[in-house]
Amino acid sequence: RIAGPSSLVIFGVTGDLAKKKLLPAVYDLANRGLLPASFGLIGFGRREWSKEQFAAFAEENVRAHCRTPFNEATWKHLAEGMRFVTGNFDDPEAFRKLSQAVSELDRDRGTRGNHAFYMSIPPKDFPIVAEQLAASGLSHSVPGAWKRVIIEKPFGHDLASAKELDRVVSEVFEPDSVFRIDHYLGKETVQNILALRFANMMFEPVWNANYVSHVQITMAEDMGIGGRAGYYDGIGAARDVIQNHLIQLMALTAMEEPVSFAAADLTAEKTKVLSAVRLPKDLGLHTARGQYSAGWQGSEPVVGYLEEQGIDPQSTTETYAAIRLNIDTRRWAGVPFYLRTGKRLGKRTSEIAVVFKRAPHLPFDATATRELGSNAIVIRVQPDEGVTLRFGAKTPGSAMEVRDVNMDFSYGSSFTEASPEAYERLILDVLLGDPPLFPTTEEVDLSWKILDPIEEYWSTLGQPEPYRAGTWGPAQADQMLAADGYHWRMP
Ligand code: BG6
Repeated sequence: RIAGPSSLVIFGVTGDLAKKKLLPAVYDLANRGLLPASFGLIGFGRREWSKEQFAAFAEENVRAHCRTPFNEATWKHLAEGMRFVTGNFDDPEAFRKLSQAVSELDRDRGTRGNHAFYMSIPPKDFPIVAEQLAASGLSHSVPGAWKRVIIEKPFGHDLASAKELDRVVSEVFEPDSVFRIDHYLGKETVQNILALRFANMMFEPVWNANYVSHVQITMAEDMGIGGRAGYYDGIGAARDVIQNHLIQLMALTAMEEPVSFAAADLTAEKTKVLSAVRLPKDLGLHTARGQYSAGWQGSEPVVGYLEEQGIDPQSTTETYAAIRLNIDTRRWAGVPFYLRTGKRLGKRTSEIAVVFKRAPHLPFDATATRELGSNAIVIRVQPDEGVTLRFGAKTPGSAMEVRDVNMDFSYGSSFTEASPEAYERLILDVLLGDPPLFPTTEEVDLSWKILDPIEEYWSTLGQPEPYRAGTWGPAQADQMLAADGYHWRMP
């Protein structure tokens, strides 16, 4: 699958995402031979840059973050197809220059009128950019060529704003030209959830309420908010990643087998799960929020959230969130799904743990199973990608004692090829017009419907509970699981 002739325009090209992910992903795609020779890349921004200055900026970031080795010949060819357009989003003249730049690439580089516009910008700027794309004719479809738009999350900050955003974008682009990025869906291990479940015989028969006691979905980060105070404060952990990444992971874990892996079939199953989600009645008991205070990350002292540069010292934004959801279907009746995420936690790890009920009868002395926990299947999304099965085994020796052991599959040792970065896969899919890995409007709306009542409840509370940086979150989160008789796994 190699992309056809096309150009990619990035709005917000000097931002963190473009520097660390988008530009390196474009380069890695080129280096893996997945971009055509007739590919163009256009940066749009306020800086007064020539195309050479833009290429130098891109090169610096590519060298710092690319996954594949830096290859001078690949770079030289890619850089020849780069352009930079200086301007503000509200300046029609800048969009006229952008129009000239894409036409020039169509003519000189052979990009053939196929253009993707990547909105790596705050959502408040989407409407103006969409309007300008329409007014300058850049978004107009012409026979035999495509125009696509890529939207980065957050897709609004609640259901109402998500719908408004959608209305604005749909005035300019056809629904099948809109690609919403949830980069978790581009991760190999996330796609592996479907392979694990539906390519095998041994998991699906136990993947239900008869055997599963609960599911824990964790996205833990050791870093703080970095330089993203402006974006993060007022948004918080739940809107930042539960609404999108974690709810998507839950949908893939809980959905029924799709008829095929085509976008319509996948989304049909995911939306069924999302529509069947039920919130707990007592949100005080079954949700938790926290905010990191000063502490240690490894051997480094780190400041608390309220002392971070650019953060309102009175901010009530949560940097940790945990929620319990139920899915009212025959398969999942009575099985809680716990979703948790936090910044400045003990370590960086994302995983889905399907935890099983205890065996109905244990024919051992009571002391023999003291160290036997619950069986679990753990899908390790990152960093050490793979799957762990946890079960009980006899300890060596004459006594009949059983304790938990792990059986591991690790991508690193089973496959020689390294997984591509999520953004590589997703950018390639946009250029190919391949939609299965992109959440639909309906999925986005349903996710907000789940989160909105929780956010509304949290907005009536004061300061989130502090937790020391480098620990595993607020005590409230532990109490939340203890209330159901469980405890969080220590990844
Ligand atoms: C982003 C969030 O979507 O995901 C960030 O906005 C978070 O806050 C990032 O740090 C984590 O991504 P990954 O791929 O490193 O888990």
